[in-house]
This record gives sequence, structure tokens and C-alpha cells, in this order.
Amino acid sequence: MTPSASNARLAGKLSLTDRVFAGPRSRRLMAEVEAGLERVDRSLERELHVSDALADTTSRYLYEAGGKRVRPMLTLLTCRLGDGATDDVIEGATALELTHLGSLYHDDVMDAADKRRGVPSAHAVWGNSIAILTGDLLFSRASQIMARHGERAIRLQADTFERLVLGQMHETVGPQEDDDPVAFYLQVLADKTGSLIAAAAQTGVIFGNGPRELEQPIFEFGEKAGVAFQLLDDVIDLSADADETGKVPGTDLRAGVPTMPYLVLGQRSDAASVDLHERIDDGVARIADGADPSILDEPLAELRGHEATQATLDLAHAWSRSAVDALAPLPDGPVREALTRFAEAVADRSS
Ligand code: IPE
Ligand code: IPE
Ligand code: MG
Ligand code: MG
Repeated sequence: MTPSASNARLAGKLSLTDRVFAGPRSRRLMAEVEAGLERVDRSLERELHVSDALADTTSRYLYEAGGKRVRPMLTLLTCRLGDGATDDVIEGATALELTHLGSLYHDDVMDAADKRRGVPSAHAVWGNSIAILTGDLLFSRASQIMARHGERAIRLQADTFERLVLGQMHETVGPQEDDDPVAFYLQVLADKTGSLIAAAAQTGVIFGNGPRELEQPIFEFGEKAGVAFQLLDDVIDLSADADETGKVPGTDLRAGVPTMPYLVLGQRSDAASVDLHERIDDGVARIADGADPSILDEPLAELRGHEATQATLDLAHAWSRSAVDALAPLPDGPVREALTRFAEAVADRSS
């Protein structure tokens, strides 16, 4: 491995926080964001108490299993364009992280995913109905918080949730005949993942009373960084390292959920790519008929090393660069620097 490839590999393994707050100018900002994340976690703990004993257990389950808190981190950065981490900002960040958490309960049912955050997924423990209802409960809690902050906050939550749901629906239904599959899928990523990351970024500006003219650029930044983030999630789905990701490798593809490396592979016309694409399709069909999911181990390892996966990484970098471009109207300073590094780090991560 060349030294630069080795450095890049190493950088991918550093935590997002280490990457975002690299450099001496960021030390104070990092301490402040970490203090804010502590407050968000305490607030999540409070919101995750339910008087019903089963609901209390199921609601806290995935929260207690971990998570990177990417979305609250963004809110805590962008709030510094205004009054900083006020109680309102902490509440907004809590509501959006609860929305994210609820979406994970539902997503694992839809993707038939066995593991999440290193533990058996909620539906694997309690069955689909309880997992779906727990997700619904978390969405209700998020709405209750937003209702304390007026119409603007409620609309932000509702609009974000609508896009997230439609993104998941479009992913499930797939493109129509005259849709370009890659362009269609990029819109799915912007809707199912970009929407929530964009809302988290915008919440810092709105709830923190930041400049109105920065609301739109920050939203655009978050949405584009969110697409880059999800493109990496698609590559991580092919990762062989279950310990690092906390998920079962190849979950999406084995369940027939298309991801970007697979779609790019489908655009290639050389014999080896066509053959690999057919073997993956054949494996997915046999798994749907009850075959052991491990029959796809080898084709998925091949896809991991295929040029289509590198092309997906290149695409993630392009989205990350265009997220950084959206920051042009922001004043120079540690916040803009940290957001720039955030966009770079999400396109270069391994967990
Ligand atoms: C997982 O999000 C779902 C996606 C949108 C890719 P994260 O990777 O942020 O999940 P946690 O919160 O760290 O578990
Ligand atoms: C998750 O997308 C998006 C939402 C939960 C809205 P994925 O299905 O690709 O995410 P992971 O890989 O299971 O975390
Ligand atoms: Mg999933
Ligand atoms: Mg999914």
C-alpha cells in the first residue's frame, strides 16, 4: 500500500469527532460540542421514558446500544452561527435524533436486517409489530417536543418526515421504465437520508436564532453531505467487518434492496460485470426462495473489489465537495472549518 493510501485508510478509521475537530483551532469548539452532545443524550434519556413497561424497554433499546449522534453534532455546530447551544437548540436536536432512532426500528423491519448498533435488531427480539409500534412511539415523542416550539418547528419536523417516508417508499417500489436508475436512486438518498441531515443542520440555525439568509445554504449543505453519507453507507453494506459496522455485511443486497455499487455495476457492459450482476440477481432470487444468505458471500466480496464500488466512492466525494461549495456564504471561522471537515469525513468513513 502506498503511504497516501495507508493514510487514507487510517483516516477512515478515526472517529467522526476526531476528523471534524482536527487541528489546534478546533479544540475549544470540540469541548463545547461534546458538552452539547452530553446534554442531548440526557434529554434523549428523559424523552425515552414511557410509563408502559414494555414500551419503556423497547424504546430505550436501540438508544442504549450506541449510535454516532451525527445529526445532533451538526445541530450543535450550526447553532454557533447564532446564539449557540440554548435549551431550544438541545430540544430541536433531541426531536430529530428521536426521528432518526424511530426510522431505524422501521428500516430494520423493511430491510430484514438482523443486527443494528452491534445488537440484534428490535424486530429480531420482539417481532415486527412491536418494532413498528416502538418506531411510531418515538415519532410521537419527537412531535411532542416540536409542538413546544411552535408552528415553524412542527412544519420542519413534518416536512422532513414526509420526505423520509417517501424516500423509503420510492426505494421499495424502485424506478419506472423511463427513470434513469442512478438518478432515481440519488433522489431516494436525498429524501430518505439527506432530508433528516439537512433538517438537523438547519435546526441549529433556526432554533439558535442564526442569520435567516444562512438557513437555505445550511440546508443545502446538509442534504448534499447526507447523500455522501448514505453513499458510504451503501459501500459499508459491502464491508466484511461486522464488528466495526455493528450490522450484518451485505444485508441490503441479500434482501434485494439495491445499493449504488450494484446500480453502477448494472451500467457496465463488459462480460465480467454482466456476469457478476447476473450472479447477484440469481443469488437474491434464491435467497427469497429460502436459500442460505451466505450463497452471496463470494459475489458480494467481488463487488466490493469491483470498479463500481470505487465509482460509488468517487461519487460520494463529488457530493461532499458540492456540500462544501454550499458553505460559501458562511463567514470564515471554526464553524465553517468544522462543517467542511464534516462533509469530507462522511465521504471517507468505514463505520
Ligand atoms: C444509519 O444512520 C441510517 C442511515 C441513514 C445510513 P447512522 O449511520 O447515523 O446510524 P447511527 O445513529 O450511528 O446508528
Ligand atoms: C436507512 O437506510 C435510511 C433510513 C432509516 C431512513 P439504510 O437501510 O441504507 O441504512 P442502514 O444501512 O440500515 O443503517
Ligand atoms: Mg437498512
Ligand atoms: Mg433501508
